[in-house]
Amino acid sequence: MNNLHTDFEKSVAMGMKSQPRKLECQFLYDARGSAIYEQICNQPEYYLTRTEASILAKYAEEIHKHTGPVTLIELGSGSSIKTNYLFNAYSKNGVSPCYVPVDISDSALRLASQEINQNHPQIQVIGINSTYESAFPLFSAASPAMIIFLGSTIGNLTGEETDQFLDWLSFNLSIGDYFLLGIDLVKSKHILEAAYNDAAGVTEQFTCNYFVRMNRELGCSIDVNSVRHVAHYNTEQCQIEIHAEFTQPQEIFLQEVKEYFTVDAGEKILIEISRKFHLNKMINYLKEFGLEPCETFTDERGWFSLLLLRKIQDHRKTS
Ligand code: AVJ
Repeated sequence: MNNLHTDFEKSVAMGMKSQPRKLECQFLYDARGSAIYEQICNQPEYYLTRTEASILAKYAEEIHKHTGPVTLIELGSGSSIKTNYLFNAYSKNGVSPCYVPVDISDSALRLASQEINQNHPQIQVIGINSTYESAFPLFSAASPAMIIFLGSTIGNLTGEETDQFLDWLSFNLSIGDYFLLGIDLVKSKHILEAAYNDAAGVTEQFTCNYFVRMNRELGCSIDVNSVRHVAHYNTEQCQIEIHAEFTQPQEIFLQEVKEYFTVDAGEKILIEISRKFHLNKMINYLKEFGLEPCETFTDERGWFSLLLLRKIQDHRKTS
């Protein structure tokens, strides 16, 4: 049994004890969850992936021109499909980059590495199966590097978690290293809510899979059919909030703490937040971590931005 497995048990135990209950969204991405997420990306309502891909398609060359040859390190790489635009731009004139994908799902990493080996045999791929944070200490050996964090995955972190994440990230970057960050922008509630409530019900399956995984890996016996996916946009907090609402009461036993947790009918458990950003506010915030914006790329609708940042100075915001 690997480490991530016990981490899952510990995390669930902690989440079930907290009030209101919440579960850590990183555990949505087991093999099945990662595959379902790829399907989400293909849903007509889920504009994020397509929009970001179109920005990458348009500006990958420009990004390459700006950074020159660098090691590409991608956090939460998943299928690495969007990264192909960068592979093409960075594989010019007989030079080919080294690519370091970091993902919590070993199946997603393996599939992605196979694909890249086939399509870009010249690229050296070194996959890291871990959480983001545990990979950060490797950055200095890879410098000059560009850390790639796409999909607005940064939006899954709370404000406080984002502080810690950026502080630790910046601390581990060398001066001159780059950070390519995708952020989803604040927009109208109906567009946002549609994106997280696709008509085909794929996002609902994604939420339910959390409990499928608990049943399989933690030996729980949760009635997965009684889980309802509820995604709302909180306008004040500028974030999508995804809950699992139980229509039937549940008794969930966790071996880790040898304890039963009673979930009432109608109880909602927070599974994930997805924050949406104001571009200028975000740029100013990133500067607090010594990350200077080099270029900002936004689609015509103004829905999604890709920021090319560079670490220009040491700056510890928190300690
Ligand atoms: C993988 C974090 C980018 O927040 O949009 C999509 C995850 N959850 N639908 C997002 C997600 C439900 C997604 N990210």
